[in-house]
This record gives sequence, C-alpha cells and structure tokens, in this order.
Amino acid sequence: MGKLAISGGTPVRNKPWAPWPVYSKQEASALLKVLASRNWGGYPFPNTHADAFARKFARFHGAKYGLAVANGTIAIEVALKAAGIRPGDEVIVPAYTWEGTVGPVLLLNAVPVFVDVSPHTYCLDADLIERAITPKTRAVLPVHLAMNFADLDAIGQIARRHHLLVIEDCAHAHGGKWRHKGAGATGDLGAFSFQSSKLMTAGEGGAVITSRLEFFERAQSFTNCGRASATDRYRHRMIGFNYRITDLQAAILEVQLERLPQQAKVREGNMSRFENRIRDVNGLGLLRRDARQTRTAAYQYVFKYSPESFGSIPRAAFLGALELEGVPCDGLFYEPVYKSALFPVDAQEYPALSWGHLENRAAPLDLRAMYHCPVSERAAYEESVWLPHHIFLGSRRDTDDIADAVLKVCENIHELRGLKHPAIARKAMSRAERPRVEKRQW
Ligand SMILES: Cc1ncc(COP(=O)(O)O)c(C=O)c1O
Repeated sequence: MGKLAISGGTPVRNKPWAPWPVYSKQEASALLKVLASRNWGGYPFPNTHADAFARKFARFHGAKYGLAVANGTIAIEVALKAAGIRPGDEVIVPAYTWEGTVGPVLLLNAVPVFVDVSPHTYCLDADLIERAITPKTRAVLPVHLAMNFADLDAIGQIARRHHLLVIEDCAHAHGGKWRHKGAGATGDLGAFSFQSSKLMTAGEGGAVITSRLEFFERAQSFTNCGRASATDRYRHRMIGFNYRITDLQAAILEVQLERLPQQAKVREGNMSRFENRIRDVNGLGLLRRDARQTRTAAYQYVFKYSPESFGSIPRAAFLGALELEGVPCDGLFYEPVYKSALFPVDAQEYPALSWGHLENRAAPLDLRAMYHCPVSERAAYEESVWLPHHIFLGSRRDTDDIADAVLKVCENIHELRGLKHPAIARKAMSRAERPRVEKRQW
C-alpha cells in the first residue's frame, strides 16, 4: 500500500466540489415567466429574451451588435457565413482546439489550414501564420483558450497586411479582455458557446458579436431561414437556416451573464492561489500570461506536466492518480484536430478539398496526413493538464485541496511506475472513445 489513493492511500479530497452549473431562484423565475408567456421559441426573431440577452452580451464585450444562436458550433458557422466565407476559401485555424472550431469551415466547403500553437499560451502562434497564407486565404480564426488570448495585436497586423478577416472563437473566453476590449470585439466577429461546461450556460446556446452592421445583418438572415434582417440596409439575400436560440435558453443566459463577473473574481483569485502553490514544482510548467490580456477568462486552469522530469511516468498516470485524490482533471482535452478521431474527414464530402487552387494538385488535400504541429501534439499527447473551472468556484480550502493533491502526486510519483489501473487507462482515452465509460460528458 502506498501513500497515493491510487495505490491504496487516503485521498486528499472526498467531499464534492462546488456544483456546476450554478443556478438560483433568478433562473427559476425567469424560466417560469417565459413558460407562462407561451412564447418559448426563437420566433418571432429575435425573440424578446434572445434580443435583450444578445444586446447585453455584445455591450458587455464592447461590440455593437450581438446575436444569440442555438450553440457555439453554429455561432462559428454563422460568423464565417456573415464574414462572406465562400467555397474554396481558406481559413487559418489553430491545430489545437475543439473539432467544433474547424467543422463549420468544412461545412461551408471552405478549407481549414492548420497552424501550430504557441508553447507559451497554447493559442494560435502568430509567428507561424504568414507562411500559411495563400491567395485563397480569407480569414484567421484564433481560439482563446487555456486562460489566454491569441496575440490579437500580431494577428490584427497580419490580417490588415493581407486583407484577411479575424473571427475569434471565444468559447472559453466569456468576459476576458485584450487591451481592455472584450473577447470577440477586437476581431471582425466573435463566436461564443453556452454549452453546459462553459463559463455561462443554458445547457446549449451560442452567440455571435460584431461591430459591423453588414456582418450582423448577414448573421441574422443566415440564422433566421434567410429572412431579411431587422435593419436590412445591405439587402443581402441568402439561403438561411433555423439556427435560432429559444427564449427559454436566452432567459437563463440573461441571469448567467449577471452572475459572471462575481464568479470570475472568485475563480481568478483561487486560480492564482493554486498557481502560487505549484509554481516552483520541478517538472510542472505554467503557461505565460500576456500583460496585454487585461482580464483573464478562467475557463479551465491549464498547466504542463513534463514526463521527462518525472522519470518518464506518462501524463495519464499522473492524471489517473490525481483524479483518485479527488481532483477532476483531463489531459486529452483537445487533440490536434487533424489527428483526432472526431475528425474523420472524407474529401468526397467536402469538394473544396479536391479543387486545384494550387497548381498541379494531383489528389484531394488529405488534412489528416499533411500536418505536423509539434507544439499541439506535445500539448495534447504528453504535457497539458486541464482542470475544470467549477472546482475553483469554492473556498480557499477547496483550492488548497487541489494544490495539495497535485503536490502529493508529484512527491509520490514513483508509486506510479508500471502501475496499471482503470483510472489511468481512462486518462489515456481520447474524447471520441470516452463516452463509452464516462457518465458525465462535458
Ligand atoms: C473552442 C471551442 N470552440 C467551439 C465550441 C463549440 O461550441 P458548442 O459545443 O456550443 O457547439 C466549443 C465547445 O464545445 C469549444 O470549446
């Protein structure tokens, strides 16, 4: 019997963490009001709460216009469509992100071009963007994750130089600020998710923000079955879909938005307390915080575990042990999209992959074979550790439990050598496989 819970010791933590999602009487009464109104859906468009929420959400982030939609994947599709992305256009995306960042690019029959992330932030590496630009490139789609922003100054300069649009995937960045400007408001458009795990949630939901009326009008039409937008100044006409959010969801989101700043404060305080506890541990690495990031959105706390410093004990063993100490955690939170089992791209289904925009393209682009992004691959398969935000919504003592557990596993890492355990096996499973064994599927 060892000290670690995974080898028979006593776990650091056996109490539950702060529950997620958070709700109160406010959500309940907002929901009841919508129920009683019998006006539950997304039509008439935008419906009462969807409109009120979208306006507040856009203002909160410093954009002029906001539109609430059915989910975050759709928000990205709507943003791309609003920006005028057309079949065959190329869109630069980070390799290290959720597959839902990239799927919408393909859905519009555009071509995603993967670029590696920075080892310091895990966000799109601006230094690598220019070499991926071709005459077909129309947009850059940075994803702000791991409590960081992609370098929006550098991306903005590149975009201006090459006449590209910038669409920010802000699914992890609600309330975050870059140079005092809210997530999604520095680029041309921002897309957000309100799926269950996110910093604000209605179970599902999404939003697009922009300060450009033309894009806002197109976004509205696309989301509302092609109908004219409310202002219709640009008189765009397009085939659209029903991508509307319901008023039941939007009513919840209005309350969630009010609660966000207070939660962000608690999370940020606890995360920095945690960070100070693990900062000097040999073999653990912190990501860098850019001073231009004037408010941090703390969706998941992400740090690096270096197997080399722990006698080559793989990350899955570290994570399995940490989980049994009572701390929920993940490593394969994201994979480089081009390697992920959730990205079984078939060039027959996305004709633009076969179009020969580059001279002499003999075969369709094979997105799964043509990329190697070393930073993304190392982050995904070897070193990144992701801790969910809700465990940082408790007290300082709760936070100390997280740090105590991490330190305990590091100090007793030798107990994991050669250990086989279902918790370790689970941590080595991709997100494509895990639903077979996990009850909770955030
Ligand atoms: C980075 C990123 N982009 C896009 C999405 C898509 O959002 P949704 O799950 O609401 O469709 C998510 C969330 O799952 C995400 O984490």
